[in-house]
Amino acid sequence: MCGIIGYLGNKKALPLLIDGLERLEYRGYDSAGIAVYCRGKIVSIKSVGRVNLLKEKIAARRGVDGVIGIAHTRWATHGKPSEKNAHPHCDCKKDIWVCHNGIIENYKELKDWLIKRGHKFRSETDTEVLPHLMEEFYDGNLENALVEALKRIRGAYAVVAISKNEPEKIVAAKNSSPLIIGVGEKEYIIASDVSAILSRTKKVIYLNDGEAVVMGAGGIKFLDLSKKKVSTNLSGRTQVLDWDLTSAQKSGYPHFMLKEIFEQPESIANSLRGRLITDDGLVKLGGLEAVKDQLSGIKRILISACGTAFYASLAGEYMIEEKAGIPVEVDLASEFRYRRPIIDKNTAFIVVSQSGETADSLAALREAKEKGALTLGIVNTVGSTIARETDAGVYNHAGPEIGVASTKAFTSQLSIFALIVLFLARQRQMSLAEGKNLALELEKIPEKIKQILKTAPQIKKIAAKYKNFKNFFFLGRKYNYPVALEGALKLKEISYVHAEGYGAGELKHGPIALIDKNFPSVFIATENSVYEKTISNIEEIKARGGPIIAITNIGNKKIARLVDDIIYVPKTIEMLEPILNVIPLQLLAYYIGTMKGHDVDKPRNLAKSVTVE
Ligand code: F6R
Repeated sequence: MCGIIGYLGNKKALPLLIDGLERLEYRGYDSAGIAVYCRGKIVSIKSVGRVNLLKEKIAARRGVDGVIGIAHTRWATHGKPSEKNAHPHCDCKKDIWVCHNGIIENYKELKDWLIKRGHKFRSETDTEVLPHLMEEFYDGNLENALVEALKRIRGAYAVVAISKNEPEKIVAAKNSSPLIIGVGEKEYIIASDVSAILSRTKKVIYLNDGEAVVMGAGGIKFLDLSKKKVSTNLSGRTQVLDWDLTSAQKSGYPHFMLKEIFEQPESIANSLRGRLITDDGLVKLGGLEAVKDQLSGIKRILISACGTAFYASLAGEYMIEEKAGIPVEVDLASEFRYRRPIIDKNTAFIVVSQSGETADSLAALREAKEKGALTLGIVNTVGSTIARETDAGVYNHAGPEIGVASTKAFTSQLSIFALIVLFLARQRQMSLAEGKNLALELEKIPEKIKQILKTAPQIKKIAAKYKNFKNFFFLGRKYNYPVALEGALKLKEISYVHAEGYGAGELKHGPIALIDKNFPSVFIATENSVYEKTISNIEEIKARGGPIIAITNIGNKKIARLVDDIIYVPKTIEMLEPILNVIPLQLLAYYIGTMKGHDVDKPRNLAKSVTVE
C-alpha cells in the first residue's frame, strides 16, 4: 500500500527512481511523484494516475540529472488522488521533501498546531505534517529534525526524506510499514520492498520498527529511536536475497497474474522442496524445530489472516481439525483483536500473510503475542515484519507475487498448511501409512496443476460465454467451501462483477431466491465425501433454471446431464483438493477480467500489501 523508493549514489537518480516506481506500482497506483536534488535545488514532478503518466511528464523535462532523490506511488487514504495530494510533500520553504507510507493518526491536531505556527499546507494528506514538523525542528541536521517529528506523531509509517540543505544524505524511519535498504556498489536504494532493489543489488538490510537510518557518502548510520542509540555496525544485518530479477518480471506473459497462475507448479514445488521425508511420512520444517516440543503440547490453534490468506486459513482449519485433531478457530485479522479472544499458554496462533506487512494481520499477531500465545507465521516475504515478529514459522518460498490479486500465494499457503498438518498430526494421531500417503499426494500436486493449466483454452471459451453475466454464485462444500469464497473474490476483484461464495448447502436458506436464467453458479463438485450432497445442491439450482458451470474430476461423465459447462481436474486426496480446484477459478476470473478490458494486475481501488488498518 503505497510504494516508496529513494536513491543515493553515483548514477543519475531519475531513471532508477522511475524503474523502482514501475516495480512498486502494484502497491498503489492512483498518483505518483519524484523529488530529485539538482544543482542547489530540489525538482519535484508529480502526476495523477499510473507511473507511465508521470514518465511522460518527466520526459518533457530536461536536466533533472541529480544523483539523489526519492519517489512515491500512492494508494489514497487521506485526500483524493490528485497532483497536490501526490507525494513527495514538502515544507513551506520547499527545502525538505518527504515520502510516506502508512497513516498518521494524530495528523489533524498536528496540522492545526502547525497552521497556528504559520505553516502553509498545500495538500489534504496526513503526510504533509511530516515535512512541516521537520521544518519546525530543523537545526541544521536532517536526522534530528526527523527524530523530533516522529516523536510527535502517532500511527504507522515508512518515511524517507531529503533536504536541499544537506544534499548528500537520505534519512528514513519505519514503524509498522516496510522499508528495506539495498546496499549496492557505492550506492544505496531504500524501498518498500525488494522488487525495487533487485535490479541493483541482492544485498539488503531490513529496517526495524522504531529505527531511523541516515545514508550518505560516508556510509550508513542506524538510530534506535526509543533507546536513542546510534549504530554503524552492518555486520549481521546484511542479508543476501535469493529472489532474482526474473521472478519480478513478466517474462513474456501479458500480465503478472497469468504468469503467477502458470508458475504454480514451480512455486508449490518450491514450497515443498526439502521439507517432505516421504518414506517416513514426516515433514522437516526448519522454522518450527525450535518450538517442536511446545507444539506437541498445544491444545488449541487460532488462525488469523485477511482476504485470500483468510480463505487459505479456513481450509487450514478443516485440515488441522480432521487430521491432527486439534480444535481450530479462524478469524479475520481485522476482527480478531476486537472480540477479546481467549488465549492461554496451550494456544498456538498462526498468522498467514503473503506480504508479511498487512496491518490488520500484524495487529492480530501482536494481540495474540501479548496474551501469551505461541505465535507462528506462514509468510512469503522473507524478513517482513510479521516474519520477524512471530516466534517461529514456515516461509512459503513462492517467490514475489506482483499481481494484486493473490494466486500463487494462496496455493502455496494451502501447501504449507498441508505440511504443518503432517507435522502436527504425526506428533499425534496420524499413522505412518496415512502420513506417507499425504506426503506422496503432495509431491504429485505440481504435475497435476500442469495438467489443469493445459485446459486454459477451454476455460477461456467458458469465460467468453459467461463474461456478460452480472452476478455469479461460487459454491462448494467442506474443503471446497473456502475455494468457493476465493473463486468469488478473484472474480469480483479483477472483473468488477458481483460474485458471492457460499457453502453449497446454504443456498436454500435464502440466496437461492436470486437464481434465474441470468444468475450462473460455479460449483466445485469434485468426487469426495460430500460429492452426493453437492450434486443435490446442483439439482436445486438446475430445477430453478440457473446456468451451471461445474468443476469435477476427469472421467466424471454423469454430471454432464445436470450442468451447462464442465471444467475437469485430476483427482487427489480430499484435503488437497483446494490446491487443484482453485486453479480453474483463477483462470476463469483472469479471462473474464481481461475480456472486459481491465488491468487485472492493478484492479481499481485496490493495492497490494494493505499496510493500513
Ligand atoms: C486478494 C488479495 C488480498 C490479500 C490480503 C492479505 O487477491 O490479494 O485479499 O490476500 O490483503 O494480504 P497478505 O497475504 O499480504 O497479508
